[in-house]
Amino acid sequence: MSPSDLLAFDQKHIWHPAQQMKDGEVFPPIIIDHAQDCYLYDVNNKEYIDIISSWWCNLLGHCHPEINAALKAQLDKVEHVIFANFSHRPALNVCQKLLPYLPQGLTRFQFCDNGSSAVECALKLAFQYQLQTGRGQRKKYMCLDSAYHGETIGALSVGSMDLYTSLYKPLMMNNIHFDGLDCYRCPYGKTRTACNCECFESAEKAFSRYGKETVAVIVEPLLQGAAGMRMYPPAYLKKLRRLCNAYDVLLIDDEIAAGFGRTGTMFAIEQAGVTPDILCTSKGLTGGYLPMALTITTEKIYQAFYADYGEHKAFMHSHTYAGNPLACTAAATVLTIIKRDHILSHAATKGAYLHTCLKERLGNHKNVGEIRHLGMINAIEIVKDRKTKEAFSPSQRIGWHIFRQAMQHGLVLRPIGDILYFNPPLIMKEETLAAAVDICAATIETVLGS
Ligand SMILES: Cc1ncc(COP(=O)(O)O)c(C=O)c1O
Repeated sequence: MSPSDLLAFDQKHIWHPAQQMKDGEVFPPIIIDHAQDCYLYDVNNKEYIDIISSWWCNLLGHCHPEINAALKAQLDKVEHVIFANFSHRPALNVCQKLLPYLPQGLTRFQFCDNGSSAVECALKLAFQYQLQTGRGQRKKYMCLDSAYHGETIGALSVGSMDLYTSLYKPLMMNNIHFDGLDCYRCPYGKTRTACNCECFESAEKAFSRYGKETVAVIVEPLLQGAAGMRMYPPAYLKKLRRLCNAYDVLLIDDEIAAGFGRTGTMFAIEQAGVTPDILCTSKGLTGGYLPMALTITTEKIYQAFYADYGEHKAFMHSHTYAGNPLACTAAATVLTIIKRDHILSHAATKGAYLHTCLKERLGNHKNVGEIRHLGMINAIEIVKDRKTKEAFSPSQRIGWHIFRQAMQHGLVLRPIGDILYFNPPLIMKEETLAAAVDICAATIETVLGS
């Protein structure tokens, strides 16, 4: 099929995720032909910088020769096998290589096949643990305002973003949502670097009212990604851990977006020095190659399920593609490369470089409210008025117009509302980062003036 036939077929048959398909009339899908390093190439061979890591999952660049070779070798051994009652080297390799990076005490791995299913697994695991340790009256979960944990009904029920949840509320569990964490518009007038997490009082209120009915609280550590790359201090997580201990509420750490070095450490919660009861990871786990997720927990929780068959305490949860050997091979290879090539420390240097470039180019722009960063992630909050922090009306779709413009210049700057963000593969070179900043700045100036 020619490029125009491909597009016509796509528009006739494909229903793309998370977008109004009618937008395709003015902004049709880009049909990608191949990819290399941090670049995507469409069917007309136009090049794009993949500054969002293909939905935050690509870690080491596209078509990485070492990951490709490992996958090709695994293909000739075994492509898939049921994971109930069976095991294999790639799965064991992943766990062995991941263990040294995990918060102390997390030792038991459940394999899932995407982020939402890892969250579902965590919610069920937590409920059953409470039930089997004498706290069966607990049926609620707690989550934060603007939280995002995936799209399945259970995961949506612990999410608070109206954009995704409001329509489905009649189907959702009745959970407890408490507010906090908008550091850019802090209601206490504090700054991210000089606060005592005053907003934590809403968590304390929620726990004192509902703590004894609650199974678990789920949190995106340090970074609420889908809410607009909102960043908050580690002290919040320390406080949350203490509160969970006081009320026997389990702490679920959703590292699906934040994990694998995105925030400067392998897992974001490391920066708070606490261990969650359950940790979910996905996205970067396979370097963006194949769907896979892990829900990782403690020996203490595992032991509450370990019993004679007749006691019916087993965790009856499964996914067909759990522990897929190809996905595990990609993950194990990613972990080898991260360690051998010191990817995390290089990423920290590049994250700081990127932040400096953005500040220099855009720090004084009239519509740039804040440029925040954590590890390699840099986010630019576009506002109507930087003094009052007033946002543009959503109907103006400023972020979307900037996105369209940036695509014309070869940069995948897919925004969240009016928040533009850079979440590049950790190996992106400084010259590519600088080129991306140039396109971003020029595009903002085209859409909003200088
Ligand atoms: C924090 C967080 N949790 C869960 C998910 C859901 O993952 P998936 O899209 O693989 O279902 C996402 C996806 O963006 C996420 O950012």
